[in-house]
Amino acid sequence: MSFITSLTRMWLTRTVQPFTFKNEYDQILPFAECENLGLYVHIPFCKSICNFCPYCKVRYSKELCDRYIDSLIREIHLVGNQHPGKKRVTSLYFGGGTPALAVDRIGEIIEALNEHFIITEGIGLELHPDNVTEEVLAVLRAAGVTKISIGIQSFRNKYQSILGRKTVDTNKMKKALDAVKFETVSMDFIFALPEQTYDDLKSDIDEAFFLGANHVAIYPFIDFTFTASPIKTMPKKEKRELLDSITRYCMSKGYSRSSIWTFFSEPEANYSSMTRDNFLGFGCSATTLLRDQFKINTFDIESYCDRINSGTLATSLTIRFTKRQRMIYWLFWTAYSTKVNVKDFERFFGVPLKQMYCFELWIAKLLGFVTEENGTYAMTLKGAFYYHYYENFYTLSYIDKMWGIMRKEAFPDRIEL
Ligand SMILES: C[S@@+](CC[C@H](N)C(=O)[O-])C[C@H]1O[C@@H](n2cnc3c(N)ncnc32)[C@H](O)[C@@H]1O
Ligand code: SF4
Repeated sequence: MSFITSLTRMWLTRTVQPFTFKNEYDQILPFAECENLGLYVHIPFCKSICNFCPYCKVRYSKELCDRYIDSLIREIHLVGNQHPGKKRVTSLYFGGGTPALAVDRIGEIIEALNEHFIITEGIGLELHPDNVTEEVLAVLRAAGVTKISIGIQSFRNKYQSILGRKTVDTNKMKKALDAVKFETVSMDFIFALPEQTYDDLKSDIDEAFFLGANHVAIYPFIDFTFTASPIKTMPKKEKRELLDSITRYCMSKGYSRSSIWTFFSEPEANYSSMTRDNFLGFGCSATTLLRDQFKINTFDIESYCDRINSGTLATSLTIRFTKRQRMIYWLFWTAYSTKVNVKDFERFFGVPLKQMYCFELWIAKLLGFVTEENGTYAMTLKGAFYYHYYENFYTLSYIDKMWGIMRKEAFPDRIEL
């Protein structure tokens, strides 16, 4: 598996040099010159821990959560003060964990960010279904949140119990969503669970839009090596049939595709923290992507608080990109939106896409993975499946390995991928 990703990496970056993450970091982050900069805040607390979940989180305790948020606000000022005046940024996303467990402090975090940044494209926050009550939604709305994403996973009891989660109270959810309105209401599902059928997924999608969602994200189940999940992954052929039929179903209902896994029913609905050119991440495990570097904060909450409270950034690892590595990173995440515009590439890198990847684009067209029209490469159904297939390799070869190490060591020396 890692053989395929290594070969692809060498070919596309034109070097045998691996992606090398080192235990060194910039205390001053060069974000001032970044255009299309987004923000991300990580809140690593959950009421109970799901055994399939790879994210950085611990069981909620009020004392630890409050102490963590004090440090988080310090980190925001540490970084924000590096830039004079207020920097214009696109969107802010809160992820976790379960950010709404700190609902009373979300406004304070947004205020701290507003001292340094002008957020122009809204504020998103992930919710557990238990958080979807009128009271919580009203507090979030008043704090400035404009988009929410609810982790449903499935409305069917059978799959909720496979995942070890509770039945979603849809009546309570509908009432809350009817009472407090957001620009984007997204719902997350997991597909390719054992025995899951097209009909199961179709009814999940219908129910989501009925309950008030205007955006859905349907993620394939990923079996991370360090999680304790007993769930077996679905064979490739069945998975492809499911992905293709869900896509066709969403299209037939008039929903548009905004990324490999997401569909929306209203043009203003969008929810994506990944498809941004550059972003600053705050909190433990948060990543920061700038023009020439990508950095990851420590996964360990106590180490995070200690570092920040001593006035130093909590960066655990940094990779300084070569030009080709940065291009591949950009292309990978831009392609996630299923479209790559040649002008955007040239604006970012100052060289034409065709000059850098002429042969690869020709092959992708020949194999029927993409079509080209008016300077935009758009992924076909086949291309979307193979992108997913490669992303799965990437997740298991790179993210799984890195997160597996970072869960155990607060500041590893070096990781090569
Ligand atoms: C941080 S959670 C969402 C908010 C909230 N904590 C919850 O669980 O409802 C992010 C999403 O990642 C997805 N996810 C988690 N583990 C996954 C896995 N092993 N494979 C695929 N998707 C996964 C789930 O759809 C989940 O809703
Ligand atoms: S899926 Fe959500 S609730 Fe479950 S452990 Fe992960 S972040 Fe927490």
